[in-house]
Amino acid sequence: MKRLSLAVAGLVVLFAGKAFAGGLDPSCSSCHALTKPTDTSLDRLWTRKGPDLWYAGSKFNADWLTAWLQNPKPIRPAGYPYFKTIMTGPDHDLPDPSKITPHPKLDKAAAEAATAELMKLKAPADLVTAGAFKGEKSGARMGGLSFKKLRGCIACHQGEDGKGGLSGPELTDAGARLQPDFIAAYTADPQKFDPHIWMPTLSLKDKDIQRLTAYLVSLGGHP
Ligand code: HEC
Ligand code: HEC
Repeated sequence: MKRLSLAVAGLVVLFAGKAFAGGLDPSCSSCHALTKPTDTSLDRLWTRKGPDLWYAGSKFNADWLTAWLQNPKPIRPAGYPYFKTIMTGPDHDLPDPSKITPHPKLDKAAAEAATAELMKLKAPADLVTAGAFKGEKSGARMGGLSFKKLRGCIACHQGEDGKGGLSGPELTDAGARLQPDFIAAYTADPQKFDPHIWMPTLSLKDKDIQRLTAYLVSLGGHP
């Protein structure tokens, strides 16, 4: 318990914001792939220091990015990649907080400049297709059931009430954070984004993908 509260304290002690002339600080690319990696080996998965950002402009909502870069709260509850931080807990495995480092924090001007650069990094049209989510919001209820029960997404992701697994990014505010077409495309075929990612391709029917997307879009207040 003491260890956990220390970690929480650690997380709120954020790095001082740096001022940049504009664009992305070169340090970002030391942890993030800003162009599509040619190395698709398992080794890259193991040594990667942060999630890929080469399709950031088709993934994130710009407003969310600017806000998060100034106040980067953890998205992956067990750090990145999660299998390096997990330790055995009394009931189930827990992330080892000492292995989770706080994200660099940017000031407002730097966050806005970084957002502008990141939003230029568009996915190819066959990866995130415009209109992949058909916008049918009424599927959200069934999608929630799919997420929590039928399709087992909750084993790896936290849904609306913050309950769920720790090995995938939290989706409690997915609607605020992520673009709907990205959610649909990633849910349909995660391996197409990342050949070694440990999210299974579940071969879902489009109807299911639409409902799951409608559910996730409804979380966190879609801008
Ligand atoms: C020391 C390594 C490191 C550096 C340097 C770094 N990041 Fe990150 N970044 C991470 C990690 C690890 C995560 C995942 C955090 C989480 O999920 O809680 C992350 C997450 C992100 C995310 C969210 C990505 C997603 O898929 O959820 C964005 C956006 C981001 N970083 C932008 C930046 C920018 C812009 C810079 C440069 C100013 C930067 N990062 C510098 C390690 C780093
Ligand atoms: C075995 C664990 C696992 C299961 C089950 C799983 N996911 Fe994932 N999911 C992941 C991982 C791991 C990632 C990518 C982490 C990263 O950023 O590198 C991911 C990423 C995502 C993303 C992109 C989010 C982001 O911030 O990058 C969405 C959307 C998503 N999953 C939806 C779903 C849905 C919907 C289901 C159920 C049909 C599901 N997932 C089932 C592990 C899982």
